Parts: sequence; C-alpha cells; structure tokens
Amino acid sequence: MASVLRDSYGRIADDLRISVTDRCNFRCIYCMPAEGLKWLARGDILRFEEIVRLARIFVRRYGVRTIRLTGGEPLVRVHIEELVGMINELDPSLDITMTTNGVLLRDKAKLLAEAGLKRVNISLDTLHIDRFQEIARRDAFARTMEGIQAAEDAGLRPIKLNMVVMKGKNDDEVVDFAGLARRRGYEVRFIEFMPLDGEEIWSNDMVVPSRRILEQIEDQFPLVPVPPKRPGPSSDYQFADGAPGGVGFISSVSQAFCSTCNRIRLTAEGGLRTCLFSLSETPLRDLMRGGASDDHLCRVIEKAVWLKEEGHLINQEGFVRPSKSMSQIGG
Ligand code: 5AD
Ligand code: SF4
Repeated sequence: MASVLRDSYGRIADDLRISVTDRCNFRCIYCMPAEGLKWLARGDILRFEEIVRLARIFVRRYGVRTIRLTGGEPLVRVHIEELVGMINELDPSLDITMTTNGVLLRDKAKLLAEAGLKRVNISLDTLHIDRFQEIARRDAFARTMEGIQAAEDAGLRPIKLNMVVMKGKNDDEVVDFAGLARRRGYEVRFIEFMPLDGEEIWSNDMVVPSRRILEQIEDQFPLVPVPPKRPGPSSDYQFADGAPGGVGFISSVSQAFCSTCNRIRLTAEGGLRTCLFSLSETPLRDLMRGGASDDHLCRVIEKAVWLKEEGHLINQEGFVRPSKSMSQIGG
C-alpha cells in the first residue's frame, strides 16, 4: 500500500540518501581528521541485499523518487556499480545519483552510467594543485579532474561540483569556479561550511555567507535566479549573458532550509537519520537481521520520520554538535 512519509511538521520525505561506507580515500579538512576515523567493521555495514530491501520499501511503499548514494566515499565500496544496478531494477525511472570525491571516476564512470546512475555531484574545493593537497590531504588533483572528465564523457550530466567554501582557505577562488562553470557548462554549488567536521576546526568565522559569494560572482558575471522546480536547499542561478552552466548556493548556516527539508538518510550501518544534525538515529540493521517483516520495518520508519526534528540550531544557544562527522552520516 503506497503512502507517503510525513513528519509532524507536514513535510514529506521523498529524497533518500544512502551511505554505503564510512571509509574514504581523502581526508578533507572540513570532514575528517588526517589520521582518519575509527571505521565500522565490515560485518556492521549493510550488505547490498539489505540496502536494496530498504530502498524497495522507500520506493514502493512511500514513493521515494530520488536516491543518492553517499559515503564516506561511495566508490571505495567494492563493486558499487552492482548496487546501482540492483536499485535501478526496482524502478528504472528512479533518479539515482551519487556524491563522490571523483578520484575513482576515471575507472568507474562508464560502469556506473551503464548500471543506471543518472548523475554525479563531485566535491572539488580548489583549482590549485598545492591547495588540493592541503584541503583533501591527498595528492590527487589531476586524477580528480580526469574523473570529472570521465563522468562527463559517460553522460552523467549535468556535472555538478560541490565546493565547501572556507574563509582563508579557498574563498578567493569562487569567481574562478564560476568561470569554470561557464567554460565547461557545469553547475557549481557553493556550500557553507557546517559544524560536521571530524576534527572540530569549524568556527563561525570560517563560514562565508552565500550572499558574499554571490556578490563577488555578480561583480564579474551577472546572474539571474532560476525559479526552483520544487523547494530545495540550493538557490540556483544562470549567467545573465546566456553562458552555459550555472551556480547554486547551499546556505545551510546563514539561511537554514529546514522548513522544506524532504531528506532522510540511511547510514552505512543501517541507521535512519532524519536530519544531518540529529543527535540519535533509528537502527534498522539489527531489526532486519533479526527477521523483522517489511510491515514491522515500516512502522519503525514511519514513527522515526514523524519525529523528524523541526530544524537545526547552528548559531543559536543550545546547539549541540552531532557526535558523528559528515563522512559517518553521509552527505
Ligand atoms: N560542511 C559542509 N559541507 C561538507 N561536506 C562534507 N563536510 C562538510 C562540512 N563540514 C560536503 C562535501 C561533499 C558532501 C558530501 O558534503 O563537500 O560534497
Ligand atoms: Fe572523504 Fe568526502 Fe569527507 Fe572528503 S568530504 S574526507 S572526500 S568523505
């Protein structure tokens, strides 16, 4: 019986993010400490069959239309393209996407596209090789750029690039990124730095409000807003002179979009999280492994979503950081 997943504030959750691993081959300063984190044991991570069982419930029972695979770095999960294929079989019209650091796309983009992946969001925070090493803590600029090209060649379009903007680290590059968007027809999304980094280097001073970035870009390239097809976290713009590509802003800190948030997240270990900033999650893995029926899982899922928090309180008194970092939650 199909219905929708509604929370007590009237929002409908129809965008599911599935983290397929907490591991990563980068150590981005805004996400993970240099030495990495304590990884989950293999047996604690959902198997592909378990992920697909949950995906089937979300798609068939609750009309979820968008499934985004995240990590850690989703491409370090072995044979991830098989999971894409299994999800695609549930319904080939699903919008299956992936957020990746791109470094393995050179080898994987074609396989992923053939398996049914529709698009990718690739994290790219600088266009300078030395800075890349400082921010991602890996010497992987050239391969990441090759990965972006491979995604384009495989038809995973439009290419979206995610840039986490940090004051004093890469905020002098925002206009260059807009230039890249124009040259290559990419959609570049500028993301405000959120307090979800494993090392806790975040401070409000490091956040560059989207409005500042927009002003800098508009000095060079006037923009026109793209009316949103549906309410979402990103405000999108095209170039007024008709150049290809575009830019978008995710103002998670300066202008929270919680009131229209339609997202839910499944962690690699099978926890359902209703907010990036949730302080707890609803474990589904052990229920499944203990033989729970789909109906039972549905009751647990519906209750968890009903209790989705109203919003996060970054910058307000009483804000408590979740104990998990972005890589452990899934972007
Ligand atoms: N603040 C904002 N965005 C972040 N990401 C990872 N950590 C943070 C953070 N602390 C982004 C990455 C990636 C996506 C999964 O989340 O850039 O694109
Ligand atoms: Fe890895 Fe992504 Fe975190 Fe960077 S942001 S360390 S690529 S999970």
